[in-house]
Amino acid sequence: MSNRDDDKRLAAYAALEQIEPGWTVGVGTGSTANWFIDGLGEVKRDVAGAVASSEASAERLRDVGIPLVELWDVGRLPIYVDGADEATRRGELIKGGGGALTREKIVAEASDRFVCIVDSSKVVERLGAFPLPVEIVPLARRQIAERLGQLGGRPVLREGFTTDNGNAILDVHDLKLDDPQGLEAELNQIPGVVTNGLFCRRPADLLIVADRGHVSHIR
Ligand code: A5P
Repeated sequence: MSNRDDDKRLAAYAALEQIEPGWTVGVGTGSTANWFIDGLGEVKRDVAGAVASSEASAERLRDVGIPLVELWDVGRLPIYVDGADEATRRGELIKGGGGALTREKIVAEASDRFVCIVDSSKVVERLGAFPLPVEIVPLARRQIAERLGQLGGRPVLREGFTTDNGNAILDVHDLKLDDPQGLEAELNQIPGVVTNGLFCRRPADLLIVADRGHVSHIR
């Protein structure tokens, strides 16, 4: 296992300590979240169930024996645990590299605490080097791409990819993220945009960062 994979696992296992017995847990998507799911499988007696943010995570949760719960049945969750593609120390994130951003944002929003688990390569001073994923209704692809171009972005269609919601993803390069909260809101106003991967209006409450075997908690 590489250092980076080791750190993903360390951050994910550290997040298990944030869970209280009997909780239903919101679970993210991606390679770091997969480690968290594996960890949940090891402590499963303490967990009532999980709400998954993707079909892939639902399948993995099923495989490790965690009961799946629908968000509409629980309403709110005490905690959501997920990775990120970029994170600032203030908890602002870019997410969606795995294409699950819409369900991730829904579950994060429905949770009292958002714990973000990353290896140190994801921590940045300023968001924006990672191309911003935007989930779109395919019909509106051209109009949305033109609007993103006017905003200074260079949208690239994620070829051969369909989200769990049946939509497409544009990965937007070169956007200036001087006002990430403002841009997050503005992008959502474009007709046909389902969600964008800026998680700044509802940032992570706790960032767990693993750096070459050392874990730190940033609030
Ligand atoms: C999934 O859509 C993403 O938001 C992931 O949370 C993000 O891409 C991090 O993935 P890794 O843990 O695989 O780096």
